[in-house]
Amino acid sequence: MTSLRKGTIMIDEVQEILFDDQAITEKVREIAARISGDYAGKELVLICILKGAAVFTADLMRSLTVPITVEFVQAASYGASTTASKKITIENDSTIRISGKHVLLVDTIIDTGETMARLFDTFAGRGPVSLTAVALLDKRSRRTANVSVKYCGFEIPDKFVVGYGMDYEEKHRNLPYIAVIKTTR
Ligand code: IMP
Ligand code: MG
Repeated sequence: MTSLRKGTIMIDEVQEILFDDQAITEKVREIAARISGDYAGKELVLICILKGAAVFTADLMRSLTVPITVEFVQAASYGASTTASKKITIENDSTIRISGKHVLLVDTIIDTGETMARLFDTFAGRGPVSLTAVALLDKRSRRTANVSVKYCGFEIPDKFVVGYGMDYEEKHRNLPYIAVIKTTR
C-alpha cells in the first residue's frame, strides 16, 4: 500500500500511485549502498541526464559515500517514441572530461533504452576507466536497444509514469511520488 504524507500534491490525471516518497527513498538508499560498495576507494563521475534525472541524481548523490563529481547533459528525442528509429540528440556533453575516470550515467527511467545506448556511444570513446549506468525504473518489456544498465531500482510494466522528475508534456516533474497517468500515448 502506498501512503502519501499529509499535504502531498495530488493531480486529477493520476490513475495509480506506484511508489510513494518513502518507497522511493528506501530504494534510492539501497542503490546508493550498492554503488558505494562497488566503488569503494575510487572516485566517481555522475552524468545526470536532464531533465528527467535531476531529482533522482540529487537524491542519489547525497546517499553515496564515495567522492563524486557531477556533470549534466541534456537528452532529447524526436520522431517515433516507440521504435528504435527515433532520433536522439545529446547536448552539453562536449566539455565533460572523463579520461581515466569511473563514470556512472544516471537516468530515472529506461524505456526503449535508445537514450542510454546513445550515451554509452557518446562517452565510451573518451577514455573512461569504467562506464556503467543506473536507473530507478526499468520498463524492460519495451527494450529495443542492446544496453546494459548495471543498477536498476524497480522494474515496471509498460505504463506511462510521471513524478520524481519525470514529465508528461513537461508537467508533473515536481510530484514527490511516481504515478501512472491517464494519457493518450
Ligand atoms: P528511452 O530512450 O526509450 O529509454 O527513453 C528514455 C527517456 O524517455 C527517459 O529518460 C524519459 O525522459 C522518457 N520516458 C520514458 N518512459 C517514460 C515515462 O513513462 N514517463 C516519463 N518519461 C518517460
Ligand atoms: Mg519527457
